[in-house]
Amino acid sequence: MDIFITQEEINKQKKTAAKVRERFAKLGAVPKVFIQTYGCQQNEADSERLCGLALLCGYGRTDNAKDADLIIVNTCAIREHAELRTLSITGGYKKLKEQKPEMLIMLCGCMAQEEHIRKKLYSSYPYVDAVFGTDMNHRLPDIIWDSLHSEKRLSFVSDLLHNEFGVIAEETPVERLSKYKAWVSVMYGCDNYCTYCVVPYVRGRERSRNSDEIFREVQKLIREGYKDITLLGQNVNSYNGDYSFPGLMKRISSFDGDFRLRFMTSHPKDASRELIDVMASSDKIARHFHLPVQSGSNEVLRRMNRRYTREKYLETAFYIRERLPDAALTTDIICGFPGETEEQFEDTVSLVREVGFDMIYTFLYSSRPGTAAAEMDNQIPHGEKTKRFNRLSEIENEIAQKINESYIGNTIRVLSDGENGRSSQNKIVNFDKPYPDGEFVNVKITAAHPYALDGEVLI
Ligand code: 5AD
Ligand code: SF4
Repeated sequence: MDIFITQEEINKQKKTAAKVRERFAKLGAVPKVFIQTYGCQQNEADSERLCGLALLCGYGRTDNAKDADLIIVNTCAIREHAELRTLSITGGYKKLKEQKPEMLIMLCGCMAQEEHIRKKLYSSYPYVDAVFGTDMNHRLPDIIWDSLHSEKRLSFVSDLLHNEFGVIAEETPVERLSKYKAWVSVMYGCDNYCTYCVVPYVRGRERSRNSDEIFREVQKLIREGYKDITLLGQNVNSYNGDYSFPGLMKRISSFDGDFRLRFMTSHPKDASRELIDVMASSDKIARHFHLPVQSGSNEVLRRMNRRYTREKYLETAFYIRERLPDAALTTDIICGFPGETEEQFEDTVSLVREVGFDMIYTFLYSSRPGTAAAEMDNQIPHGEKTKRFNRLSEIENEIAQKINESYIGNTIRVLSDGENGRSSQNKIVNFDKPYPDGEFVNVKITAAHPYALDGEVLI
């Protein structure tokens, strides 16, 4: 089965979009779309494409659900907490729909791919008009048209059994939220099957965009003045086009223009020396490496199916420190994976101390239906997970504070967001006075906190 959506199909969607637009024009209506996005950058990127398609259908954008004629909830399934929050917020839209019955409410993204969630939506959320999976995003015009004309509720969820490879849709319009920061997906899906993770089940198999399409998109962004470009993939190192991932980075970093190039996310088992060497070879590539370790215990890593050891991870981390001494190193850690003993958790603590991360995204393990870890014995009680989480946060705060203090007195280049901005290391830098957003500015660092720096804008 071909994973690439044909140009014919995209053109068909554009025609449907024109029909929807005409329908609203005839009614003299200016409808509005509100898109609520949860989860990772991939979802944010998807929402920008959904917004592009909704605008093509004649909708204007609103940031207020109350003003909307179409609400799209783009969901995340990575942890149960995120799912419960999303369902409760979706529940809140019931009132809006009662006041405005012609309003459409749709739910898409990773939760829409889960059987138990779809069942729940059908039985308990009758005011949700359509539910569609991540492989159906490019069909939004059809979904809107059908929802406007059908009494029946719609489900367009792609059946991963029938299309286990997932799809790639090129040439869909995009409405980016920022005028200077952009996401560029290079690959989709994941084949790693870490035992705690739902992503391979909801996002399908790994698939890569053609490199020419990626180069064209990046070059257009640079021409339009974008300054911060992030290449996205669940596991960017698995990029498998006619370039390797380091090759892709090298080529893009050779493009003319004043921009920073980032990537997200890299798997430690594949983060090669070649990639780190490419980073060191170009100052266009941001000095930030996000390398999720998840645990410092070899036994836990094995049961997570991570396919690297603590020693291998440390080797990579130290190579990054050696080749990119000015880079920030950040990571993800899961506290309370099933069967994680106190001792094994202490291995994580000691790894954190040994590496000295600039920042850690710490998560309480959350059991996900359908994953291997959900079936494991010795699920850790919530209280214990929280205790470990708090201990790690305290330790990390001290480490990050120390690292950030080493910036005091230095002048660094920051991409302004107005009142603050981001350094090459992706650190938040608070300004002493506002500076136009989307511009690079030199800032002299005057104070440090665990999660941010303060500085004087030098003009
Ligand atoms: N429970 C807790 N955290 C999880 N993550 C992924 N799956 C789970 C889960 N079931 C975390 C991992 C991953 C990050 C994006 O989310 O740390 O790197
Ligand atoms: Fe999930 Fe592992 Fe794939 Fe990351 S690499 S998306 S944690 S299965």
